Amino acid sequence: MQLFIDTANLDEIRKASSYGVLDGVTTNPSLMAKEGISDQEKRIVEICGIVAGPVSAEVIATDADGMIKEAKKLAALAKNVAVKLPLTLPGLEATRTLADEGVDINLTLVFSPVQALLAAKAGAKYVSPFVGRLDDIGQDGMALVEDIIDIYGQYSYDTEIIVASVRSPLHVANAALLGADICTIPFKIITQLVAHPLTDKGLAAFLEDYRKIKSVVH
Ligand code: E4P
Repeated sequence: MQLFIDTANLDEIRKASSYGVLDGVTTNPSLMAKEGISDQEKRIVEICGIVAGPVSAEVIATDADGMIKEAKKLAALAKNVAVKLPLTLPGLEATRTLADEGVDINLTLVFSPVQALLAAKAGAKYVSPFVGRLDDIGQDGMALVEDIIDIYGQYSYDTEIIVASVRSPLHVANAALLGADICTIPFKIITQLVAHPLTDKGLAAFLEDYRKIKSVVH
C-alpha cells in the first residue's frame, strides 16, 4: 500500500520524506488555510520539488467549466500534480473532459459506494473515500472502503482508492488489510505508526544490558 501525507506543511513533508516511506501528498483548501497559504500554486510547486510521487491539489470552482480551467492550470504546475475535484455532477463532467485530455483526477469527498462507482466510470485516476468523517457521524468508514474494493474488483476498474480522512493507526492497518491502493495520513499519525511500548521497552533493556557488559569489561 502506498502512503501519502495529508498536509500542506513543507516541514512535515520533508520530515516524512526523510523516513523513506512516503509515496505522495494530498492537500485541500482547508489544509492550505491551516498553513496560512493564499498562493496555492506556489505551495504546490514547492511540494512537487520535494516529492516525486503524486501531489493532489484541489480546485475551488464548483461549475464544470471553472473546474476544467482551474484544473488545467494546476496540472501544468508539475508533471506529478493530480487535480482534486469534488464528487458532484459538475465534478463528474469535468473529470471526463480532463481525463480524456490526460489529466490525473482525484475525485474527493466520497461517502458512498455509488459515488465511487461514478468516479471510476468518469475516468478518475483516484477516488478518495473519507473514512474518518463517516465514523464521526456514527457510520462505518472502513465498510465503505471494503464496498468500493468489491465493486472495482467486479468490473476491473483501475481507479486507485485513496483512503482519506484518516484519524488513527487502526484506519491505516485496516486500509492495508483490505488491500486499498493508498492511504493518506496526517504527519502525527505517521509518527504514531512507529510507536509501540514493547519496542521502547525492548530497546531500553538492550541498551541497559549493553551498559552492564561494558562496565564489567572495563
Ligand atoms: C484527503 O484527501 C483529505 O484532504 C483529508 O483526508 C480530509 O481529512 P479530514 O476529514 O481530517 O479533514
